[in-house]
Amino acid sequence: MKKEMKKILVTGAVGQIGSELTMELRKRYGAENVIATGRKTEPSKELKESGPFHFINVNKIDTVEEIVKKYDIDTVYHMAAILSAVGEKNPQLCWDVNMNGTINILELGLKYEMARIIIPSSIAVWGDFVALDNTPQESILKPTTMYGVTKVCGELLCDYYVKRFGLDIRGLRYPGIISYETLPGGGTTDYAVAIYYEAVDKGSYTCFVREDTRLPMMYMPDAINGTIMLAEADFGTLKHHSDFNHAAMSFTAGELAAEIKKHIPDFKVTYEPDFRQAIADSWPNSIDDSAAREEWGWKPAWDLASMTADMLKHLKARKDKGTLYR
Ligand code: SER
Repeated sequence: MKKEMKKILVTGAVGQIGSELTMELRKRYGAENVIATGRKTEPSKELKESGPFHFINVNKIDTVEEIVKKYDIDTVYHMAAILSAVGEKNPQLCWDVNMNGTINILELGLKYEMARIIIPSSIAVWGDFVALDNTPQESILKPTTMYGVTKVCGELLCDYYVKRFGLDIRGLRYPGIISYETLPGGGTTDYAVAIYYEAVDKGSYTCFVREDTRLPMMYMPDAINGTIMLAEADFGTLKHHSDFNHAAMSFTAGELAAEIKKHIPDFKVTYEPDFRQAIADSWPNSIDDSAAREEWGWKPAWDLASMTADMLKHLKARKDKGTLYR
């Protein structure tokens, strides 16, 4: 029998995806049933006042277990992670948070017989020896970053817990996620968010990857919708579990700048690649998400043009109110 998702824990709830995911889950499942947690960054007023919030350290199991017991948690969206650029600056921290955090959640899932655990993966699982165009679901995973290493290990660990212990775990390989609510923290795809803020703020942007850098990207509403769709899919229809390729669009930094210029004609972009260029170069240009489409009906709603119009509308409105960066 399918176990119900009644009390949901979101780790990484102050982060770029976690903050919006928490608000959507609160809308769908009731605010008091969605427990938001973060590591040290203060939550927004909206997040704090709309339902329960606690500080935990996912790599310290006691701090997580206390919350699991207190609220009788049966479902976890494990969004807490150190991203690729910060991970290259501090590989040990990246391993500790991403790997120990993940196995702690899985162990608590077993101990408390949880209904479901959702743990995202990333395009960072790819690296050497793989075709970078329309990269297939089943392919060689040889990442070149610590973040990528932890995401490959995480996928393997999750699939092991599914097969060995029958725990219900699901995960998707997110592309770069673009949004206007919470800034991303320390990823390689952050330029694709920063470019919108600076276009609105200053009319110019210095991009840390080359103009011809092409990466898979997705607008936040699609990422949230896809994540919840996968979480709610019938377990019996899933052939994959923790590693669904998840795609929406793919564009170069130059194409992104050109799209913004349609709205802000004087927008100027210069390109000064830094260490993140090599990371971006090691990731696919585009990915094949047919397994997600076939197994749980994934279909994106947003493309570059519609996303750009929406991003600029929201950011311009915030700039007019003097709260662009909040
Ligand atoms: N957006 C992430 C990063 O750039 C990839 O999952 O690190």
